Amino acid sequence: MIRKYRSVNALLKENKQLRQQLAEARRILDAIKPGDIDALLVAEAAGGQDYILKGANHIYRVLVEEMQEGCATIAANGTILFCNKNFADIVKTPFEKVIGLSIYNFLKPKDREAFAFFISTRTGRFYTECSFEINDKFCASVILSASNIAIGGDTLTCLVITDLTEQRRSERFTQMIFNQAKEPIIACDKNGQIIQANPAAVAMVGGQLVGHDFDRVIPLFREDNGVRIGLNQAADSSLSCGIEVKYERQDGKAFNLLINAGQFNANEADDNLIGYVVTLTDITDQCLLVHEMTRLDRLNLVGEMAAGIGHEVRNPMTTVRGYLQLFQRKEKYADDHEQLMVMIEELDRANLIITEFLSLAKNKRIEPKPGNLNGTIHALFPLLQADAFRFGHEIEADIGDIPPTCYDDKEIRQLILNLVRNAMEAMDSRGSVTIRTYADNQAITLAVQDTGPGIPENILPKIGTPFLTTKEGGTGLGLSVCYRIAESHGARIEVETSSRGTTFFVRFKVVE
Ligand SMILES: Nc1ncnc2c1ncn2[C@@H]1O[C@H](COP(=O)(O)OP(=O)(O)OP(=O)(O)O)[C@@H](O)[C@H]1O
Ligand SMILES: [Mg+2]
Repeated sequence: MIRKYRSVNALLKENKQLRQQLAEARRILDAIKPGDIDALLVAEAAGGQDYILKGANHIYRVLVEEMQEGCATIAANGTILFCNKNFADIVKTPFEKVIGLSIYNFLKPKDREAFAFFISTRTGRFYTECSFEINDKFCASVILSASNIAIGGDTLTCLVITDLTEQRRSERFTQMIFNQAKEPIIACDKNGQIIQANPAAVAMVGGQLVGHDFDRVIPLFREDNGVRIGLNQAADSSLSCGIEVKYERQDGKAFNLLINAGQFNANEADDNLIGYVVTLTDITDQCLLVHEMTRLDRLNLVGEMAAGIGHEVRNPMTTVRGYLQLFQRKEKYADDHEQLMVMIEELDRANLIITEFLSLAKNKRIEPKPGNLNGTIHALFPLLQADAFRFGHEIEADIGDIPPTCYDDKEIRQLILNLVRNAMEAMDSRGSVTIRTYADNQAITLAVQDTGPGIPENILPKIGTPFLTTKEGGTGLGLSVCYRIAESHGARIEVETSSRGTTFFVRFKVVE
């Protein structure tokens, strides 16, 4: 081939270029021989072409291919020079297409920036947890670790990614169950310090739990014997199948809970304790319901008995009373007049008890009429004042603005009388009784409050049971009658009592 050169200088220039190319080719060959180079990326006019070199450091290649992690080597401009099959799988891109792509294709802008900066430092290590994506579509959650290696004048970055997608998915799933559970769930470390608490637990305790000692923030007492129970005992395997406990929140609200506590070990085969998982089921409402049902059952039973035998006892009593009155008028019993008088009075007292007892009858008819409870209190008040005066107590009415409702006036008078009478009887020194009415969206409430010594603790759970009395000469029917009247009006009675006084709340449903 004959070439024409325009000048010697041009010839020399071309000669120099050719020598440079030859030197570069030698350098590449020198690198390929010992296996320092994995692939060649050749720039061509039609686009890049890469050549993967086989045989270089064969043992390490096999090792890299067998790894669970994805790994790749990255050029200083971010081009992927080599990767194993797992890397291609994790980034969800065909293996043959990954090499030659830029690593920045897979990173989010903020990670891209951090990674580019790391490469530019040309030394050191990089570690981050991030998401890989392609064309803005999520590929995987990974832990990315990378090291820069200086080779000659160039920097090469070795990158390893660990796929956490499945692990993160299952963690999110567990977290969702934990957060959505209606039951309080608490996880503690082996010293009993709370490390996680779900929203239900935080709502029950009413404050932050994480970082606090379980036994200190949630003091629990066994329902059966009132003994304090700690996390340790609750997690004891013989008890862990659910114990009923009591818990009183700082604001005084009491809960009945079912506690299930389990020990959490490193793994199934290892009994090395790591911590505890505690579930607390709120059974306060069920307990109240069971209590209420038992009381109603007792009341119904007594009611049935009352209806059954009340009349039968009264009839013979009427006969006896009639004869006693007759004897009273006879001359020959003049000396016994006083005793006959006492006998008649005692019979009248017995009759009164039967009348009250009869009013407990289960199916006693009531005659509800529309009206305002305030009207009944107003009409009754002078009578209550006279009663209070007799006892040396004070009484006041604090009447609220309440809507009309439907009730049996005679029955509600009886209820108020019984409650106020109990209040008067409970206070020995000059006390004060307040009758209050108020309403909210849920109920119209009638409250009778006293400044007495409170209901004795031993009878409190049984309050409302017929014939339960602590009074000499008391019949123990007053409150039973009140509960029966409330029940027949669809109302509920609640009691608050302490050494500073007692309040009975009668809550009537708001009639639409
Ligand atoms: N306001 C109150 N303060 C303290 N204790 C109370 C109060 N109300 C009721 N009690 C207690 O509850 C018991 C039962 O009351 P209840 O009205 O049913 O019967 P009683 O008052 O003893 O007898 P009676 O049949 O004459 O009403 C009382 O004996 C008393 O111990
Ligand atoms: Mg009474």
